[in-house]
Amino acid sequence: MIDTRILPVRDIDRDFENIREAARILREGGLVAIPTETVYGLAADALNPESVKQIFVAKGRPQDNPLIVHISQVCELLPLVERVPEKAQLLMEHFWPGPLTMIFPKSGKVPLTTTGGLDTVAVRMPSHPVAQAIIREAGVPLAAPSANLSGSPSTTSAQHCIDDLTGRVDAIVASGDCEVGLESTVISMVCDPPRILRPGAVTKEQMEAVIGPVELDRAVTAQLEEGAVAASPGMKYKHYSPKAKVVIVEGEFEPFAQFLDSRTEEGVYGLVFQGEGEKLSKPCLEFGDSHDPAQQAHWLFAALRQMDELGARVVYVRCPSKAGVGLAVYNRLLRAAAFEVMKL
Ligand code: TXA
Ligand code: MG
Repeated sequence: MIDTRILPVRDIDRDFENIREAARILREGGLVAIPTETVYGLAADALNPESVKQIFVAKGRPQDNPLIVHISQVCELLPLVERVPEKAQLLMEHFWPGPLTMIFPKSGKVPLTTTGGLDTVAVRMPSHPVAQAIIREAGVPLAAPSANLSGSPSTTSAQHCIDDLTGRVDAIVASGDCEVGLESTVISMVCDPPRILRPGAVTKEQMEAVIGPVELDRAVTAQLEEGAVAASPGMKYKHYSPKAKVVIVEGEFEPFAQFLDSRTEEGVYGLVFQGEGEKLSKPCLEFGDSHDPAQQAHWLFAALRQMDELGARVVYVRCPSKAGVGLAVYNRLLRAAAFEVMKL
């Protein structure tokens, strides 16, 4: 058990001492959970294989699942990659800093431990001012997967990190809730057209407006066949799951209400859109307006975690729209549900 320190940062200037402390721990090879605009990240020096190894241990993460490297300025990208394709340059200009991760051919500087043995590296420049300040102060790029235990829902608040990582990391920078609530969009720039491996707040349509056609990897909405090679190793694992069994229910509200009413299993809960809970006979949590995917993204993981606290055994979820950011919400729910979708 490691003694985990909590480093609150409410105001960047006033609490700068804690940012400096987080940066010092990282520079010296330690592990620190840090806020970003997407989800909290479990950070270590991306260029130090010994530190990066500890990330996998702390999370219980399979070693072949590569990490995203976080930078605070574009000039920090060049030493990490072989080349920057023109389309990547355009995407950077439009969407960095922000919730977009791009995959490049890696340089010799990036350890294979960080990339899970791949010859490519995923890089992102977060927009969260605390994340930016910590990277800058640390003076090294930071490898950071989501700061949850492997397999459980990502952490979108400091309390979630405390619940999952106390005793496993050197420090947790506590700095409020994450605005987006879902992990970044991951797009591979080593193929043409570029291919989305994980949908997020930066959508296919937004990127196509800048660079033309973009492909969507099949694994975004479908389960990989037994033995298939995943373009993004993270896609092959069951993910984002609360302890309860999750089932996505497609269809209108009325049949959903009748279906939920008829369930007799123990510990049945509904995960529904705003305003629907009061019309249902079973206990429910709400995860945002049915027409507002950004709001659903913001609340989804917190709601899944709360289901565990409530002791839910089976959760029937209203199916979100798959348009725009909705595709990211659907993608995470599919994995939480281990691909169990029913139509009414
Ligand atoms: O928003 C985010 O991206 C958060 C915050 C902390 O920045 N980080 C995050 O990291 O979600 P993680 O490790 O939970 O997810 C990284 C995903 C995984 O699915 C992984 O397989 C994929 O990105 N990935 C990373 N490097 C890759 C590479 N070289 N090739 C293909 N996929 C890669
Ligand atoms: Mg993750």
